[in-house]
Amino acid sequence: MKLTKEEKQSLIQAKSETDWYSICDDIKSKRNGIYPNYLAREILEIFNNKFPVDKYKDLSFGQIINRKSFLNWLTLGWLAFAGATGGFFTVIIRFLFPNVLFEPPQSFKIGFPNDFEAGKVDLRFKKSHNVWIVRDDEKIIALSTVCTHLGCTPNWLEADRKFKCPCHGSGFRSSGMHFEGPAPRPLERYRIVLSNDGQILVDKTKKFNYEKGEWNRTESFLKV
Ligand code: FES
Repeated sequence: MKLTKEEKQSLIQAKSETDWYSICDDIKSKRNGIYPNYLAREILEIFNNKFPVDKYKDLSFGQIINRKSFLNWLTLGWLAFAGATGGFFTVIIRFLFPNVLFEPPQSFKIGFPNDFEAGKVDLRFKKSHNVWIVRDDEKIIALSTVCTHLGCTPNWLEADRKFKCPCHGSGFRSSGMHFEGPAPRPLERYRIVLSNDGQILVDKTKKFNYEKGEWNRTESFLKV
């Protein structure tokens, strides 16, 4: 039997917890000492409304944390762990595969001798390979685009027939010879040969310096 209206009322009006338990005993005795679950639930609901408690007061962390919040904490923990582990492995992978600077090949073909006009400075390979190709009546040379003063890149001035460095004004002839400004020596030349297919091959791994008497060496120029 559920709580009667009067029983409910008396429970609601109970003045203290002692009072409450004696009313409960009365209710129980009226039912021959039987206290079924549905009755207990009804009484508990009234009790909770009447004597609300701070349910977290005096409880330890372990008691406070219920299953749901425990799972939430566990999920957060796993996410933090996964984040930290991911960061760690990212650093390791970056370490194993460092940034690689892809430079153009040091040896490359530039075409056939007839592709280059006598008396002309060819600028086509300046950007891609840092090389000027210069042909005169007798030979073709491959000049480095690096100024021998402090390493800037000069410009070819066709009207003046010279390379002019924008940094400190050094000037170089089309042969690479320096003639004005602070550059202490001529531009460097690179190895230049004919490959098997008849094309010109420039090889930047081998340099020829005028001041060392290397401009006369074979492969410092290509005879045409
Ligand atoms: S770097 Fe070319 S003149 Fe100084």
